[in-house]
This record gives sequence, C-alpha cells and structure tokens, in this order.
Amino acid sequence: MKALIIFYSRNGQTKKIASYIADHMRTNQLCDLVNIRDAIHINFDWKQYNRILIGASIYYGYFNPIVDIFIKSNLLALKKLISGFFSVNLTARKYEKSSPHTNSYTYKFLVSSPWKPDCCAVFAGALQYSRYHWLDRAMIKIIMFITGGETNSQCDIEYTDWEQVKIFTNFFQQIRKQGFI
Ligand SMILES: Cc1cc2nc3c(=O)[nH]c(=O)nc-3n(C[C@H](O)[C@H](O)[C@H](O)COP(=O)(O)O)c2cc1C
Repeated sequence: MKALIIFYSRNGQTKKIASYIADHMRTNQLCDLVNIRDAIHINFDWKQYNRILIGASIYYGYFNPIVDIFIKSNLLALKKLISGFFSVNLTARKYEKSSPHTNSYTYKFLVSSPWKPDCCAVFAGALQYSRYHWLDRAMIKIIMFITGGETNSQCDIEYTDWEQVKIFTNFFQQIRKQGFI
C-alpha cells in the first residue's frame, strides 16, 4: 500500500515541506506526491493507498478554495483512509500560535471541514520577499510590521522547524484511524 501526499503551495515552501515528508516516508513505504492543482483532475485509484496527507499554506487569512474543492470531491475516500493535514503560515512562527488548536486558520478549518483528519500539524513557513510581486511584498511588509516580524525586504527567512516536520511525519506513519477533532 502507498501513501499519498497532496499539497497546495504558491511560493514553494509547502511544496518543500511536502517533498521532505515524502522523502522521509519513502524510507519505509511507497509514497506519491501530487500538486493539488493536478490532483483535482485525477481520478485516483484509492485501493492502492492506505494513508493520505494534505498540506496547504495560508494567504490573507485563508487556505486556497482549491483545498476545499479537493476535499469535497474526494470526501468518501478521505473518510476511509488514515489521514492527516498540515497547514503552513507565518503566524505559526510564534510558538503560542503554532498548534492546531491555537493557530486560528487551522482550528477554523478543522472545525468547519466535513473531513476530520486523524492528525494535524501547523508548520511555520517562509518569508520570501525576493519572490513576491510588489503588492504582496507591500502587504506582507505591513503584516510583518504589525506582528513584529522582519520588515527588511532584502531578507528572506525560513522559519520551518525541520525537526518538527520529521517528528510529525513519524507520527503520521504510525497512527491508526482516530479523528483529531
Ligand atoms: C501575500 C501574502 C499573504 C500572506 N498572508 C498570511 C496570513 O494571512 N497569515 C499568515 O500566517 N501567513 C500569511 N502569509 C505567509 C505564508 O503563509 C507563508 O509565507 C508560507 O510559507 C507560504 O507557503 P507557500 O510558499 O507554500 O505558498 C502570507 C504570505 C504572503 C506572501
């Protein structure tokens, strides 16, 4: 049986985390890694999978609607498989906002989604001023100013704690069906 990892990423950090998880999982089992933009067009043969993990980043307070679209169109399969979810955002760079219960985007998602994953994690993402177009750069600078973060747009900073990602991956590989929330 294989694991399936689906990710939504706009600037690459969630993709980087999903790839890291896939590489780590592949030491124990087969694992497919699919961009959600491709995944919504795929008719998956669910019989070959025993686990699914979905990861997505936050922009302007929300996950991209494509995440909901994928979940709703594959809800039956998601309910049957052992499943996990991880969110990626910059609010999570603050320890007190880095758990599924204290990270408001993630908590709202878990409460409102018809899919209840068996485990969940929140990872701090990356601030990548060099990749943003001018409007995003200006907006994120304001957000960083308000929240006490880095406002020097010459600096790119990766906040992701790779040890945390590894620990979550090991946990995800071992869990059974339980329902997280
Ligand atoms: C324009 C813009 C808006 C963002 N909005 C939020 C936000 O509302 N809350 C938050 O915690 N992080 C926010 N972020 C941070 C992203 O979630 C973070 O950079 C993440 O690593 C992006 O992942 P990706 O590269 O996979 O898309 C924003 C980033 C940008 C560039």
